[in-house]
Amino acid sequence: VIATRETTISRAALQARIDALPRVRLAHLPTPLDHCPRLSEALGGPDIWIKRDDLTGLAFGGNKSRQLEFLFADILAAGADTVVAGAYSQSNWCRQITGAARKLGLEVALVLLHGEKGPALQGNLLLDRLMGADVTVVDLDSMERLTPLLEAKAAELERAGRRPYLVRPFGLDKLVLGAVGYVNGALELDAQLEASGIEPDFLYLCGANMTPAGMALGLKSLGRRTRLTNFAPIVWSEPRAADIARIAAATAARLDLDLPIAPADIDSHDEFIGERYGVVTAGGREAMRLLAGTEGIILDPVYSAKAMAGLIDHVRTGRIGKGQTVVFLHTGGTPALFAYAADLDLAPPPTRSMS
Ligand SMILES: Cc1ncc(COP(=O)(O)O)c(C=O)c1O
Repeated sequence: VIATRETTISRAALQARIDALPRVRLAHLPTPLDHCPRLSEALGGPDIWIKRDDLTGLAFGGNKSRQLEFLFADILAAGADTVVAGAYSQSNWCRQITGAARKLGLEVALVLLHGEKGPALQGNLLLDRLMGADVTVVDLDSMERLTPLLEAKAAELERAGRRPYLVRPFGLDKLVLGAVGYVNGALELDAQLEASGIEPDFLYLCGANMTPAGMALGLKSLGRRTRLTNFAPIVWSEPRAADIARIAAATAARLDLDLPIAPADIDSHDEFIGERYGVVTAGGREAMRLLAGTEGIILDPVYSAKAMAGLIDHVRTGRIGKGQTVVFLHTGGTPALFAYAADLDLAPPPTRSMS
């Protein structure tokens, strides 16, 4: 019996809809789909594959490269000369925005929340500065309070005769463009799975909104039964599954896809966040060591390590069967690792005197 997939749209037709949208090529695509037999063995099964979106290029890569291809088309169309954006001081989003802006000849102004690592010149913040972003770190810790500061920065730039483009942290337009990047990611993954004959039961990832929304929509529209399991990096007021489904539905409308996406399509977990956003967890440390030690693949402590900790837990507790197949989407974030060196429970090696 040949199982046929209930597709809403063929891969070629969905690709044509994506290709019709304004886009600036920024990412190195396709990213590899790596088989991880030593990780699988260490966990006693299941079969694990890692989609390497940490290798998208653009200032050390990560999931943002795919999203920014569509956002920067809008930034260029607006005729902007400066991008204004913000998040936490170790933000991968801001680091990759800076990389994209510089590559396209634009200036960057970042307003960054202090977060766990503050103004320490390491990891992502070091890269922002190296790429010449104008950075202000503020002693606040809430994304909601950031928007007025970004608006003030944009107004200040306007008064100085510049043409700023403000990337609003919660703007639905931005979220939809980012999700389109991951519908495109789902198309790429679908083709790789078909070429390798892999039928994953699950896709595991760490996402806040755009990445799981695009992936869930893309996989569902292509008829994949792969269950998306998302791990949030931060506690938000709105439950993740509802927010992700809302963004996925808006993205479906943008791509003219007649496909219902409901919170029930998304399995999202908050229980691996630990103490709070940006703080390393014991499970995350174990996940980082295990993947590095079995496959030589490096996770970041704030996002991908927490999702991998979730995957490990789900294997141990039997939520993922030993004979099942999982694709883990590595969303990047690896530069932040260097800002977290002191939190990884690794002592410096002894130094032997040779004199
Ligand atoms: C490494 C990493 N993984 C995952 C995410 C979450 O991505 P999204 O907001 O697209 O769901 C981010 C974004 O901040 C990130 O930097």
